[in-house]
Amino acid sequence: MRAYTGYIVLIGIGVLIAIYVAFQSFFTSFGFDLPRDEEQVGMEDQIVIKFSHVVAENTPKGLAASRFAALVDEYTDHRVKIEVYPNQSLYSDHQEIEALQENKVQMIAPTTSKITNISKKWMLLDLPYIFPTDEALQEALNGEVGDELLNHLHAVDIKGLAFWSNNFKQITSNEQIRHPEDFAGKNFRIMPSPVLESQFQHFGASTSRLEFNDTFKSLEINKTDSQENTISNIYSKKLYEVQKHLTISNHGYLGYVVMMNQSFWEELPVDIQQQIQRAMDDTTSWLWDKSKEMNETQLHDIEKKSNIEIYTLSEKERKEWMEAMTDIYPEFESTIGKDLLDKMERIRDKYIE
Ligand code: LMR
Repeated sequence: MRAYTGYIVLIGIGVLIAIYVAFQSFFTSFGFDLPRDEEQVGMEDQIVIKFSHVVAENTPKGLAASRFAALVDEYTDHRVKIEVYPNQSLYSDHQEIEALQENKVQMIAPTTSKITNISKKWMLLDLPYIFPTDEALQEALNGEVGDELLNHLHAVDIKGLAFWSNNFKQITSNEQIRHPEDFAGKNFRIMPSPVLESQFQHFGASTSRLEFNDTFKSLEINKTDSQENTISNIYSKKLYEVQKHLTISNHGYLGYVVMMNQSFWEELPVDIQQQIQRAMDDTTSWLWDKSKEMNETQLHDIEKKSNIEIYTLSEKERKEWMEAMTDIYPEFESTIGKDLLDKMERIRDKYIE
């Protein structure tokens, strides 16, 4: 009899649990909020930050954005939600900076080249071979040079939070490019930056400023015949399918500046600012190695899955490129500022063999 009563009680509890679960999903599916844990933040208290960018999720920037969102969620105990919008699903290259300044989105991470029209000193980072090694890049961006550039963004109502690295740029073209004089007559798709324009025009090439997401098409229909980018961008956008040659030149840097609307940032509680910065710093140091690793692996993947001919510059050729391309530095000295350029060149000289 006792065992019988025990079974009835167990079955009763089971039925009650089933009813509770069924009702919970029923109410939730109609948008009714059920009581939350004491420590769980109510939706009305949550700070939502829209983070827009233009590349795919499976790229260094795309992965970093997702990782940052997860860390912010963890470090703020769900008080801040970072909504990531990849692949220019909200704004394109040329719209996103304005959208940030108007607070339509609160965070973006454009390439540093794309902000040279609002803060000209940033042209420094586009100079060819300004970073001869990874160490030079880290020393500059994590030191005085980086701080000075980030501080310059205040003037345009932007808070610079970090530098996210992608890697060095390589050249793709329909003809082989081994020497600077091989640029002549080509039409390069470039990001909007006067330095990049000069870098190619100096050697007799023409340039077309095009959005990242228009690059594949322009190469496919031969509106342009060449471009420069990191391996991860060449891979994720399948640019290797519409180009015949890839030259590993490491001639320029492509990285991002992660930015927030300055007024929005200032209104955030100090403890939230600290946790966001902590999540940003952790993501940034993770990305240094991750982006390097991705660019290396994806170069092998391109080699395996496509017919593009890959050529790596010899040390002698690299020196030849470096000497020829640095000819354009004086043209930008007054725009960048002599002090900043000198600081950078001192770092550069330390790392040049
Ligand atoms: C490009 O336009 O080539 C890059 O800025 C894309 C990106 O954001 O990495």
